[in-house]
Amino acid sequence: MTTARHLAPSDPAAALRADVLAGLTATPRWLPPRWFYDARGSELFDEITRLPEYYPTRAERAVLEAHADEMARACGADVLVELGSGTSEKTRLLLDALTRAGTLRRFVPFDVDPTVLEAAGAAIGGEYPGVAVDAVVGDFTEHLALLPRSGRRLVAFLGSTIGNLEPGPRAAFLAELAGTLAPGDAFLLGTDLVKDPGRLVRAYDDAAGVTAAFNRNVLAVVDRELGADFDPAAFDHVALWDAEHEWIEMRLRSRTDQVVTVAALDLTVRFAAGEDLRTEISAKFRRAGVEAELAAAGLRMTHWWTDPAGDVAVSLSSK
Ligand code: AVJ
Repeated sequence: MTTARHLAPSDPAAALRADVLAGLTATPRWLPPRWFYDARGSELFDEITRLPEYYPTRAERAVLEAHADEMARACGADVLVELGSGTSEKTRLLLDALTRAGTLRRFVPFDVDPTVLEAAGAAIGGEYPGVAVDAVVGDFTEHLALLPRSGRRLVAFLGSTIGNLEPGPRAAFLAELAGTLAPGDAFLLGTDLVKDPGRLVRAYDDAAGVTAAFNRNVLAVVDRELGADFDPAAFDHVALWDAEHEWIEMRLRSRTDQVVTVAALDLTVRFAAGEDLRTEISAKFRRAGVEAELAAAGLRMTHWWTDPAGDVAVSLSSK
């Protein structure tokens, strides 16, 4: 297994400082979701994927279980590139299908977190002899052009992670991704679908409070990395459905008038009681919208699979 790093070790620290400075001085205040995922945050997210209310992970697994062979035959890929690969848990369904199809030679997991990447890459290298694992550490909004281009590639972006991008950055991401695809390459995209708002909100505000802990964890990350003095318990977890934009928004709502300092930025931030800090959008999609966004990026959607309940979709597209 090889690992290429496109993030210098100091990059994430500089990016966090820039994001926190921009977000905490803006109106309304915000922090990007990327910073949820330290070791504790990844653990909490893993717990979220097993919650009764959080259907997306199970539903997407069902789609892959039912249709991975069809996906493998349709793309004929010998290289699987996975963006935001994380633990690569559902990826094994694709790796198995591409192995059964007899085409798979190489797996390229791509993630911002080198720790999870190396663990997942090493495990898969052991489980799939004959498949070269070349991991790449990088940010999918910045380093797409650096991914290996040889072979007939299937680029997978699962888990509806694309929903964390707002429409502008999402269009930019899809256009850049399309630019890296050669004729014969394919793009496999996981998208959560618009559904009953009650179910959507419960998926982001679970009874056990795991998502609330996940949301507050970003404050602990800023405390640890930038010497801030956020008291996570002084903020309420809020999940709301924005019907106009068709996205779920997560926020942290200040319980009191309070002052927070961020030592590494020499920054003092005042929160009024009831003031919100926005931490994530999770856009939900419709088939026509996905097809149109892909088309705007120069991609033609050739397949659309959903789970039996129609909760999530996985689409395949190419140039
Ligand atoms: C990892 C981006 C798919 O938006 O559903 C889960 C993250 N946030 N619960 C999502 C998340 C709150 C998740 N994604």
